[in-house]
Parts: sequence; structure tokens; C-alpha cells
Amino acid sequence: MTARVIDGRAVAARLRERLAAEIASLPFAPKLVVLLVGDDPVSAVYVRNKDKAARAAGFTSETERLSAATTEAALLARIAALNDDPEVDGILVQLPLPRHIRTEAVLDAIDPAKDVDGFHPLNAGLLAIGRPALVPCTPKGVMTLLAEAGVPVAGARAVVIGRSNIVGRPMAALLTLADATVTLAHSRTRDLAAECRRAEILVVAAGRPGLVRGDWVAPGACVIDVGINRLADGRLAGDVAYAEALPHAGWITPVPGGVGPMTIATLLANTLAAARARRG
Ligand code: GUN
Repeated sequence: MTARVIDGRAVAARLRERLAAEIASLPFAPKLVVLLVGDDPVSAVYVRNKDKAARAAGFTSETERLSAATTEAALLARIAALNDDPEVDGILVQLPLPRHIRTEAVLDAIDPAKDVDGFHPLNAGLLAIGRPALVPCTPKGVMTLLAEAGVPVAGARAVVIGRSNIVGRPMAALLTLADATVTLAHSRTRDLAAECRRAEILVVAAGRPGLVRGDWVAPGACVIDVGINRLADGRLAGDVAYAEALPHAGWITPVPGGVGPMTIATLLANTLAAARARRG
């Protein structure tokens, strides 16, 4: 068997087109503000791509670049002003933050109604108790890919590798809500290969290139690779040994061109949803 390759670029493009059409019919343009603190080059690329995609779909998008020396108090004050600004629908603070700024204090300060990343404890808690509101973009994008590819989720055995607040934890919550039977594996899991071999849906968000080998993939399983790793030779690689997994899997996402494009498209969907909820 050779896997069906899930084309995340195509699914994301269709989603962005739908959003653009919806925005064109609104009497206002939803507004997203992204705060980028410091000069991490990877973050700068992400933020530029978010801004470009938002504008192309008809959003108003502003990126505020703050120096690496910005104090936590100054960042919190800026967030408070954006919370109070009725024109702003979505606020995103790009992570990681410089080390002198407490990430938790910053995420806690964002108005949950404008928290398009879904990282505020209120939104994380609502998802955990099965009442999702604004949901983290990458795992929500994965659910869209599963639906678009026609992967059966209800009743399926799903294994998620990685327990970050950005991907793994919310991914496990979303799969549970969709009636999968979910195992959340991580760096301390005793026999990771054995856990993976039981998975009908395997979502890998470990940040370790090539971690999942071909013979860890059950015949016909759906393999979703969230990893984006820059190798020493400059190439991008996922967390799954793609060429090895291809003959085992039923579906697989490539890197690049799989999950990555869905994150930004889903951010735009969240921003539109936040705007509609706020503005009625
Ligand atoms: N850094 C890496 N991924 C993300 C994300 O989804 N949102 C934000 N704000 N920062 C990130």
C-alpha cells in the first residue's frame, strides 16, 4: 500500500478562499494584531506569512515589532490597550518570548474573546471540559485535514506524541471530543514504538526529526506530521521518517506542505470567528 498524501496547501487555500468570500460580505474588515518581541528570524518569517495571508483574505492586519529589550510591564500595557480597543478583534503574541518576559503572564493578559491562539487559560480550560471556544490553530487545523481527507475519527485509536500546550494537549482534547480513543505519549513514554504501532491515527508533534520510523506505522494508519525541523544541510524535515512511512500508511502529511499551511489559515478562521462573536 502507498499512502494518500494529504495536501495541506490545497486544503488551506480552499479555507482561505472561503474566509475571503465571507469577509467580502461583511460590513467591516476583522482586525488582527500580531505582537513580535525581539528578532528571532524564524518568528519573523512566521509573522510575515501571517500578515500576508491575513491581508490577502481581506482582514486588516497589523504587526507591531517590539525590541528584545521590551519589559514585561511594557508588553502587558500594550496588550491592555489592544484589549480595550474596540477595532481589534484578534491579538496574537508570537512565541517564544525573550527570557526576561514570563510567557504565562502575557498569555493570561490577553482578553479571552480576542485570544485567537486559544492559549489563554480560560480557552484552554473550556476545550479541556468539552466546551471549545477559541481553539489553538495547529491542532484545529489537523482536525480540518482529517475531515477533508475523509479519515474516520470516531472510535479510532489515536496516539498523539508531544504534550505541549500549543499542539499535543489541545490535539488530544480535540480528538477526544471527536470520539477517538486517545493516548497522549511524550518523552517519558516507556515504549513509544509499541504505542505508535497501535495507532490508527498518529499525530506527531515532538520536534525531533525522523523520530517515527516506518515500522512504527500500522498498516493503513493516518500519519499527521506536525514537526518542522531545519536540518544541518538547510532542508526542512518532519518528525516522521517520511519515505519509510509512506508504504505503511493509509494517509500521510508531507513536510513542508502538510500541517504547516493549515496553522495560518486556521488563525484567520479564528480571527473571523472572534470578530463575529464580538461584533454580533
Ligand atoms: N510559535 C510557534 N507556534 C506558535 C503559535 O501557534 N502561536 C504563537 N503565538 N506563537 C507560536
